[in-house]
Amino acid sequence: MQQYGYFDDAAASYVVTTPQTPRPWINYLGNRRLRAFVSHNAGGLLWHMEPYSRRITRYHYTAAPGDRPGFYLYVRDRRTGTVWNPHFAPSCTALDSFACRHRPGVTEFVASKDGVEVRFTLGIPPTDDVLLWQVSVRNTGTFTADIQLVNFMEFGLLEFMREALGWCYLKNQFELRYDPELGAIRYNYHVFEAPFSPAMLIGCSEQLSGWECSREAFIGKSGSYESPSALRPGAELSNSDLPLGGHACAVQGVNVRLAPGAEKALGFTFALADKWPQAEALIRKYQSATAVAAGIAAIDAFWRERLQATTVATGDAVVDRMVNIWIPYNCMVALDLARTISTDHMGTDGLRYRDTTQDAMAVANLDPAFALQRMRQVFASQTPDGGGCFAFFPDDPRAIRDTPQRCDNTVWQIYTIHNLIAETGDMSLLEEQLPYRDGSQGSVYEHILKGLVYIYERRGPTGLPTLYHADWNDSLALFGDEHAESVMLGMQMVYSCKLFLDVARRCQRSADVAWCERVIAELTTILNSDKVWDGRWYRRLLFSNGKVLGSAANRQGRIYLNPQSWAVLSGVGDFENRGRMAMQAAAEMLDSDAGLRILMPPFKGIPEPEDPPLGSNPGIGENGGIFSHANTWAIMAECLLGNGDRAWKYFRQILPQVVSERFGADHYEREPYVFVSSIIGPVSDRFGEGGISWLTGTANWMHIAMLQYILGIHPTLDRLEIKPCLPQSVTAARVKRTYRGKTYQIDLQHRNGQQSHTCRETA
Ligand code: GLC
Repeated sequence: MQQYGYFDDAAASYVVTTPQTPRPWINYLGNRRLRAFVSHNAGGLLWHMEPYSRRITRYHYTAAPGDRPGFYLYVRDRRTGTVWNPHFAPSCTALDSFACRHRPGVTEFVASKDGVEVRFTLGIPPTDDVLLWQVSVRNTGTFTADIQLVNFMEFGLLEFMREALGWCYLKNQFELRYDPELGAIRYNYHVFEAPFSPAMLIGCSEQLSGWECSREAFIGKSGSYESPSALRPGAELSNSDLPLGGHACAVQGVNVRLAPGAEKALGFTFALADKWPQAEALIRKYQSATAVAAGIAAIDAFWRERLQATTVATGDAVVDRMVNIWIPYNCMVALDLARTISTDHMGTDGLRYRDTTQDAMAVANLDPAFALQRMRQVFASQTPDGGGCFAFFPDDPRAIRDTPQRCDNTVWQIYTIHNLIAETGDMSLLEEQLPYRDGSQGSVYEHILKGLVYIYERRGPTGLPTLYHADWNDSLALFGDEHAESVMLGMQMVYSCKLFLDVARRCQRSADVAWCERVIAELTTILNSDKVWDGRWYRRLLFSNGKVLGSAANRQGRIYLNPQSWAVLSGVGDFENRGRMAMQAAAEMLDSDAGLRILMPPFKGIPEPEDPPLGSNPGIGENGGIFSHANTWAIMAECLLGNGDRAWKYFRQILPQVVSERFGADHYEREPYVFVSSIIGPVSDRFGEGGISWLTGTANWMHIAMLQYILGIHPTLDRLEIKPCLPQSVTAARVKRTYRGKTYQIDLQHRNGQQSHTCRETA
């Protein structure tokens, strides 16, 4: 049991038992069209397709606490006069018991007060664009319970920036009314320049005892979410419509009288469609408590199926629950949303090209159709000369954003496509014709090759790829040297060309084979030259003025983690020797025992410590923080070097549960069940604080690092290859994995330093 909750592995859940966590601990709901995030206090946000232009509810990012408002259920106990929430906030009325269970796609609250127990479950089913509120109330006392259940959601004005800049006009361009025939509230949005005017309805399985469409009528002019005036003693819901605009909400009240031991189930439904008849059909479909319960059950079935693709038993419960439940779930949420929207991200950034490409890697194993769908969208935003972009918006008219320019965008696509083909065995994917952004067509093979050529042709004087704004590491932009050369990207090019070579050979494209071989040889020579090898490790950047970054001669930014890991991952020539030395230097200089720092020492001022600071404070994020995403490559590199103990240590020490327990949940702050993009490093007094959670490339690479490297079950174009690199502490592990339509049970043994395995097909 942790300070604020515990893992219930059998139910694939994290259970928050103390409602006042250090920050909102959220979960995601959604069916890849309608989506929401919801905190353990039911704070959150609902949007459709694209959170920039189709943001349905309101959310106040910088409010304190940071999750207001949300999807609230108020319980008015008419016997005691108390108003409470099964999610504690916003009323914050003390509860007799509280649990919030986050599980894939569903969040459930179970709470009781004064002999009344309420169970409230939120979810969005796979096939319908509805947010379901499944509610049941039980009388556990000896009296007759007289309850009013009241739901609340506050609406925004769909377009995020337009609302921020012009809500005073927009607030007069919609209407909300209760429709007695349908038994639902209609939200009719008719902003005149809106790119999207959906039909939205909010219904209930029961006869309403009252409703509100006006936030001011419910909350009151001097009221608050904590204590809505319509729920104060003597007050009742006023049945307000909002025909002329204002601040919109949907509130529905249901009276419930229960004898001792009796229970009542009901449901509320938010439905969205392009046209009213479809939205009305959804409301009718979910107008019973059983239909709502079936909708929630369908979500559980959807996730159960996905999480079965690969299961692992290593004997380490902390590792196993992450690998079996939370990493795959985190991977799929990250692929769905890239870095768009969370309690940290504002929902304006679209799907980033390189992040999405990486996120699709692990999902190739978990849900190959979804990975492929995203990759098609990635390729469709590529320029016909092979360049990538910063971000694309598949569901938004803004379409594509090119700046800031990242030089590594197109180096990643072969990783994902190779992994996808290795998973499915379907080589014909390479021949699939896909558009470039100007509408011209090219095969997947050509898209990838052009992307590699694009990077190769933009080399600097040393022969390594040019940085432009930045490579994988966004903060390299601080140095303002567009002509600097990137060692990391040079190494990644070697790795990518090796994967592409594998593909080009099979496709008998001899000219491309020759090109790949030449690039690999050329870059390998440069990367092993004294311009890049620093004596004990690999440097990071070669500046256009001849200076370097990531050298023992530097006063700050002396050693970077990524070139050491990628030297091994790209694995050629001298890298075996130097790779070992480099990873040893990383272990000695970068490992903090709570994760590897991205660089040491952090920058105080740029370029020299005496200069004014620029960018993140020392120890934070890319400036010497424990950057989780970068840790994953070090784990993989240690496996390639055969260092199972070190790989396991690196894997385990950044698991959210481990970090949270090590620093204390109050200091770490973030959810103990999903990754953060970085943890603040030891030079800072904030050492151990977690950064942005959920939306990070970490989850996907951690899946790859564990499955393909530590457990060593590696899909190739021909077959599943098995070469484990277990630590001494794990003497046996069992993996069940589906592969090309079959399910295998793979048993790994580790005795007296020897690793062996058996693999058999199961029914
Ligand atoms: C963040 C960004 C990612 C970038 C990384 C390192 O995770 O989403 O694109 O590569 O930071 O700067």
